[in-house]
Amino acid sequence: EKGTYPHYMLKEIDEQPFVIRNIIQKYQDEDGNIKLDQDIREAMKDTDRIYIIACGTSYHAGLVGKQLIENIANVPVETHIASEFLYNMPLISEKPLFIFISQSGETADSRGVLVNVKKQGYRTLTITNVPGSTLSREADYTLHTHAGPEIAVASTKAYTAQMAVMAILAVDTAQAKGIELDFNPIRELGVVANAMEAMVDQKEMIEKIARNYLSVTRNCFFIGRAVDYFVCLEGALKLKEISYIQAEGFAGGELKHGTIALIEKGTPIIALATQEHVNGSIRSNVQEVVARGAHPCIISMKGLNEEGDNIVLDEVHEYLTPLVSVVPLQLLAYYAALHRDCDVDKPRNLAKSVTVE
Ligand code: F6R
Repeated sequence: EKGTYPHYMLKEIDEQPFVIRNIIQKYQDEDGNIKLDQDIREAMKDTDRIYIIACGTSYHAGLVGKQLIENIANVPVETHIASEFLYNMPLISEKPLFIFISQSGETADSRGVLVNVKKQGYRTLTITNVPGSTLSREADYTLHTHAGPEIAVASTKAYTAQMAVMAILAVDTAQAKGIELDFNPIRELGVVANAMEAMVDQKEMIEKIARNYLSVTRNCFFIGRAVDYFVCLEGALKLKEISYIQAEGFAGGELKHGTIALIEKGTPIIALATQEHVNGSIRSNVQEVVARGAHPCIISMKGLNEEGDNIVLDEVHEYLTPLVSVVPLQLLAYYAALHRDCDVDKPRNLAKSVTVE
């Protein structure tokens, strides 16, 4: 089924523009407007606070989902790691809505929370790639991510699909609440699909960067601010799980509070710069690590790019940059793993769905 592809992961990375276009199709009505089921719309309209619960990559999508829902639909959102939620339970608002994000829909940690909050009578929505799955059956409502089967253990297209579906959920809620949008969501998601396509067409260049920066290194740090920080967490997870390089994502401003002690001559630092309001500050963070010998790789977006940036993404709406900026990080992880002779699709110690707590 992977056809001419050497690995499922590469195929799934390449499929992302099509997945986004498919999602646009699935959630559009005859008039070309975004339209979700009435009961989901009502639940979103009626809640005073959303609690997003997920693990791993889906948790990282949930961090971006918080930004999307708060910025577009003006509903407060908290995002929590499923396995921690029951120990560090926040005060629950009067009308909570729990959203579970899970590619497989079978993750035991997430299900543990679902079972618990259902007992308390709270409303639940699952965003999943497998509609018949346990989390889908047990929640009140389901949104399907329509990414097609994801075979590689490292999640790629499911992550971007989850974020696209949350953007659609946010837009539908905004419409239901009569909030005027200053952008056309269908158009902007189309722009995202095109920008993803432009990125997957630059494999040779990204392969070269992976070879230069990652083929022999012991560690690697990702830095970003605002929503770029969340993508850094995902980029680091991808890199560590398939290449076994110790990788961490940091908020740019946190470096000087400790992590900068780890920077040595040649330490690779991958910096994301897709957000105008933090472009100046993330670039000074890069200067700080360069002054200590780091080997920087800057991934920026057109319009914010500067001479010497290593990878430049096509311009997309500022809320939707994670869908595009993660693509080079997925490819960097993929090629780093290849250069290090790792089993890309089946990394050691990992299973595709984690059904134990
Ligand atoms: C990382 C990865 C895992 C999963 C996590 C949650 O590439 O695949 O971190 O994201 O185990 O799985 P789901 O989304 O199936 O609940």
